[in-house]
Amino acid sequence: MMKSIVITTTINKRKHELEVHPNTTLLDLLRDELGLTGTKRGCEAGECGACTILMNGQAVNSCLVLAPQIDGQEILTIEGLADGDKLHPLQESFLDHDAVHCGFCTPGMLMSAKSLLDRNASPTELEVRTAISGNLCRCTGYQQIVDAVLETEPVKRET
Ligand code: FES
Ligand code: FES
Repeated sequence: MMKSIVITTTINKRKHELEVHPNTTLLDLLRDELGLTGTKRGCEAGECGACTILMNGQAVNSCLVLAPQIDGQEILTIEGLADGDKLHPLQESFLDHDAVHCGFCTPGMLMSAKSLLDRNASPTELEVRTAISGNLCRCTGYQQIVDAVLETEPVKRET
């Protein structure tokens, strides 16, 4: 049996020192050990995007990352997107555009969209579609999601 490893990481702006098993995925660490169940478990094979989080600002599938790989890294999950009681502008825009149906894809969609808007404040529709191309949605047909990202208020995007 492999030994546990101690890592230090920042998750949603809070420092953590964690003892992790080398084979634990980041998805399992977040959901099962830290109780951050907003990150969804879909295919566990890098195909659906439901588990998308940000690692140093990049959207990644947490089912494909092993827990030891986040040592020294900065992680943002859907729980860290809002500012206290104040929703992130992307979340407001998803509500305004009826872009949330069953909601299973929504956390991953939001994290992919945030990663895009943080590096490109005025994306084209093609850029939005490309950014969320790894996030599957079985409900919306995608148009409301694309519109929600395109129409997120630029002035508020930095919050
Ligand atoms: S659960 Fe990670 S990509 Fe599907
Ligand atoms: S809203 Fe149901 S999967 Fe996207």
